[in-house]
Amino acid sequence: MVSIGVLGYGVVGSGVVDLLQKNGDKLRQKLGVDLNVFKILVKNLDKHKGRSPLLTNKAEDVIHEKVDIVIEVMGGIDPAYAYVKKALVMKKHVITANKDLVAAHGEELMALARENQVCFAYEASVGGGIPIIRPMTDSLAANDISQIAAILNGTTNYILTKMYKENMDYKAALQEAQRLGFAESNPESDVMGYDAARKLSILSTLAYDQKIDWKEIDVEGITHIDAQDIKYAKKLGCVIKLLAISKKKGDGIFAAVRPVMVSEKGPFGQIDNEFNGIMFQGDAIGEMMFIGKGAGKLPTASAVVGDIVHIVQNHKGKYGKVIVERKQPCHKWENPFQ
Ligand code: NDP
Ligand code: HSE
Repeated sequence: MVSIGVLGYGVVGSGVVDLLQKNGDKLRQKLGVDLNVFKILVKNLDKHKGRSPLLTNKAEDVIHEKVDIVIEVMGGIDPAYAYVKKALVMKKHVITANKDLVAAHGEELMALARENQVCFAYEASVGGGIPIIRPMTDSLAANDISQIAAILNGTTNYILTKMYKENMDYKAALQEAQRLGFAESNPESDVMGYDAARKLSILSTLAYDQKIDWKEIDVEGITHIDAQDIKYAKKLGCVIKLLAISKKKGDGIFAAVRPVMVSEKGPFGQIDNEFNGIMFQGDAIGEMMFIGKGAGKLPTASAVVGDIVHIVQNHKGKYGKVIVERKQPCHKWENPFQ
């Protein structure tokens, strides 16, 4: 059995717990072990009355000797940073969806994980449900990447889509994005472009093998975009998107986040609502694009649970005998086109 402690039971935390329950049988069959949630940390127990017997407001109940993997989905730096460090020092694998934490302390936490021979995984920190961190670290590692262009924030893409397609006003669209669980607890980091800049710094640091500090990225958000801008873009056959771009320039890296007019029919023009799109230019693979849901409960939980699977598969011996039980083979292949 793999014992899992969860720090946070908001949009993402509750998504992780629900997904582990919903697809528990499938995961057990795949991994040959049970994935068991041990305890879940919240700030305000009263708010969650009757929701789960596993809830606690004491971090030490979650970062516990009996736990194998700690999932940090609280958000922010303080106390998430201290909790993650404590878990790593206690030789717990750590998974986080927290881009603020990864952008600010990622290198240090990865080094601490290496020192303690455990994993620090952060797939959900960029692109929500889109698998992008592992491809960047593993599958695409052979490439010299020269450029990244991306929509990296679901909230702002949702707002801009609603303004463009439904003439919704900015404030109403933001409120809807908050209701749907896409926005950060302080949505300023979404609409001012800081969230996209943090994600761009994480991706760029991986892509170019040099630390790109998010604070050095030139950032402009979408707070000043109004109906008049949308009307003007439409007239030109364009749509406004918050793009995050980084590229190699000489010995350095240029990186910026800005609202940009793109062709309505182009690859970014068709990415709507909370979807994200990430395009790379690699010297071996050429141009490549990843598209998918960049925010929300279950898409983000999909990336977090994917990290759990990755960790368990890479530490098979530790969690008991892994027997992959395949379903009975089909005896007759039916023609799927009939
Ligand atoms: P929420 O605000 O919905 O949930 C945060 C949870 O953490 C709550 O349960 C809260 O407790 C708990 N918490 C916060 N601070 C403390 C504290 N000091 N002590 C104990 N518990 C605490 O956030 P999300 O689930 O939306 O986001 C979590 C993380 O995932 C963030 O880093 C976010 O950036 C990231 N993320 C979010 C995505 C999304 O679509 N929402 C997508 C990808 C990443 P309580 O409920 O009692 O307030
Ligand atoms: N607030 C973030 C967004 C959540 O809207 O993209 C996903 O990281």
